[in-house]
Amino acid sequence: MSLQLGDIAPNFQADTTEGPIDFYNWSEGSWVVLFSHPKNFTPVCTTELGYTAKLKPEFDRRGVKVIGLSVDPLEKHELWAKDIEETQGTALNFPLIADPERKVADLYGMIHPNASDTLTVRSVFVIGPDRKIKLTLTYPASTGRNFDEVLRVIDSLQLTSKHQVATPVNWKNGEDVIIVPAVSDEAAKEKFPGGWKTVKPYLRVVPQPRS
Ligand code: BEZ
Repeated sequence: MSLQLGDIAPNFQADTTEGPIDFYNWSEGSWVVLFSHPKNFTPVCTTELGYTAKLKPEFDRRGVKVIGLSVDPLEKHELWAKDIEETQGTALNFPLIADPERKVADLYGMIHPNASDTLTVRSVFVIGPDRKIKLTLTYPASTGRNFDEVLRVIDSLQLTSKHQVATPVNWKNGEDVIIVPAVSDEAAKEKFPGGWKTVKPYLRVVPQPRS
């Protein structure tokens, strides 16, 4: 059975481009983005890793640690990292797991045999500081992911973990949010003293809480 939202992200030990890690020790207390790539020295993966490296300050600002994975050996990662820097203009600045025996890939269900027996799909796991899985994404090898969207989702996850709100379609950080149905109007008066707009009794729109 695949890992689902709310499940505890399993621990593992692995070699990475930044040395061996125990995942729980490495991630202790942080939000984490763990994402897999089908294969080293492939074009789409190269662009994804370069772009994610460019976004590092944005992940840092949100207290998020990023870690990639591919089922190639460490020596190949080190060679590929040079290509990523040369072609994408940014050096890798987060660890890349070497998983040639596919231990982590199998643990996290990143191999989908009906897509490929040997390569991982493009998986993304966003994991909270409580080690629970907050988001999963699965893309095929042929489609690069949108890491701006990953950041946008993290903004929503972090906000909605602190406040009893949900974020509407295409929401971006700073825009109005929705009071969750579990909050009565009575309780909402205390939580949102600045008031809200009732579009329907179940659709109450409020400015994004700031802290
Ligand atoms: C790529 O990253 O470009 C890629 C990897 C595996 C299959 C197809 C494309």
